[in-house]
Amino acid sequence: MVREYDKIRSTKISMSETEIPKLRKESSLVVLSGKEIGKEIRLTQEKSILGRHGLDIQIDDEKASRQHVKIITTDFENYELIDLNSTNHTYLNNKKVTESKLANGDKIRIGDTILKFVQKDEIDVEYIRQLNFNTIKALALAVDAKDPYTRGHAERVTHYADIIAVEMALDNTRAGAIKYAALLHDIGKIGVSEHILEKKKKLSEEEWEAIKNHVEIGESIIEPIDFLQTSSMIVRHHHEHFDGSGYPDGLKGDSIPLEARILGVADAFDALTTDRPYRKHKTIAEALVEISSNSGRQFDPEVVKAFKSALKKETENTPRAE
Ligand SMILES: [Fe+2]
Repeated sequence: MVREYDKIRSTKISMSETEIPKLRKESSLVVLSGKEIGKEIRLTQEKSILGRHGLDIQIDDEKASRQHVKIITTDFENYELIDLNSTNHTYLNNKKVTESKLANGDKIRIGDTILKFVQKDEIDVEYIRQLNFNTIKALALAVDAKDPYTRGHAERVTHYADIIAVEMALDNTRAGAIKYAALLHDIGKIGVSEHILEKKKKLSEEEWEAIKNHVEIGESIIEPIDFLQTSSMIVRHHHEHFDGSGYPDGLKGDSIPLEARILGVADAFDALTTDRPYRKHKTIAEALVEISSNSGRQFDPEVVKAFKSALKKETENTPRAE
């Protein structure tokens, strides 16, 4: 039998895990002589032609207008240099050119102008973002693996937090910080004994304090990572309550970062709809009733409202499981 939450947890986190874009080559010609010294001509078009009037690229050199030199590329990585029978010839690394492949560092002379062909890897921001995300996800899975009861928890919480962020129209930077924080929110449990995490009976005061420590341990684990500064702050505050009764700082209302208030609702909803050592899971409807009854106490009413609306939209758009 498919449980209700299985329908939701099968939903993919929107950042793709598989399609990592490749680094792209960036090619250009740098002018090494004459009055344009230092000028960089980017070779970004499929077909680049140098030194002919009225065509896409011209060297700013009156002599160059008499040259007939063509640079052809088909895939942004491989360039060919062709001398179209110019009167005073084109040279590549001091050898006369008729047709030749260009490699990084090649020196080209067209008349009196000397150029250097430069090819370097272009840092693809999207590629780096994907790498970061996948690394964080691996860390999150390591935490999940420690506790069989919370398997898949981090990914589901990330999904819920993400749909709330979208519903509340948070910008990409804030939504991204929430995603990282959601994936890593319980990483501090690495520092809490399994005996306590898996205990079915009521926790002693001391054990409860040990569990509460996970937010500060989590914050200190990810805080040194430069791009996770905001996320570490969200992790610290994800157990604060709207009425000030939460931990670790007992923050109240708007003084709790919005991102942490969002994560708090997402975390609680997944905890309610999955089995825990001490109780069975609730249905989505039952969990929503519980979340709503704590709106204004544990949870920010605005966040609860956004979550219900986002979840409703999602359920309407998800085909029913048989
Ligand atoms: Fe937590």
